[in-house]
Amino acid sequence: MKFFLDTANVDEIKKAAETGLVDGITTNPSLVAKTGRKYKDVLKDICSIVNGPISAEVVSEDTEGMLGEARDLARIHSNIVIKIPMTKQGLPAAKKLVSQGIPVNMTLVFSPLQALVCGKLGVDYVSPFIGRLDDISHYGIELVSDIMEIYDNYNIDTEIIVASVRHPLHILDAAKIGAHIATVPAAVFEKMILHPLTDKGMEMFLADAAKIPSN
Ligand code: E4P
Repeated sequence: MKFFLDTANVDEIKKAAETGLVDGITTNPSLVAKTGRKYKDVLKDICSIVNGPISAEVVSEDTEGMLGEARDLARIHSNIVIKIPMTKQGLPAAKKLVSQGIPVNMTLVFSPLQALVCGKLGVDYVSPFIGRLDDISHYGIELVSDIMEIYDNYNIDTEIIVASVRHPLHILDAAKIGAHIATVPAAVFEKMILHPLTDKGMEMFLADAAKIPSN
């Protein structure tokens, strides 16, 4: 399973990247707004830290606007992936970008049929938002297994990015069903690695190590 970090905070990215576990980054306008910085500056910094797919989202609502933004963003670095919203206007934009060889991540995906359409367009990534579905009492992870089943039926090789991850169990559920990628907020990434018994065990080993005669 690949781990992407879902943040635009460069310090968080640097810290998490030190683990050697970060395969890519996803950003969105809300995450970038939190940094108080310009989107392009943030993206340039991220591309210098992580050598993997870096998703950058367009904010235009019309197809032509999305394409213009996409071309601009794609020029920043060869690792940039254009995040296109799953809207009527987003579909032709995605199709065009795919035909131009620009990698696309379809975002704001909430149903298996939306994901089927994305796969049919040949986009590189699809992002089902599981946490936001859980928020409205739908099992978000079920969406991921439905998409996996459909993609399997038709040999669609679009990779699924499990998005809107809120806690480590979301990652566990995604891994158990074999989802390709989870994009994870930095706080959840840290929680996933920690275990109180590991810390306690280390404390005990270190205390006992101090009791071992040196020679
Ligand atoms: C995914 O690409 C999105 O950036 C993100 O996962 C959205 O998460 P949220 O629902 O916590 O805002």
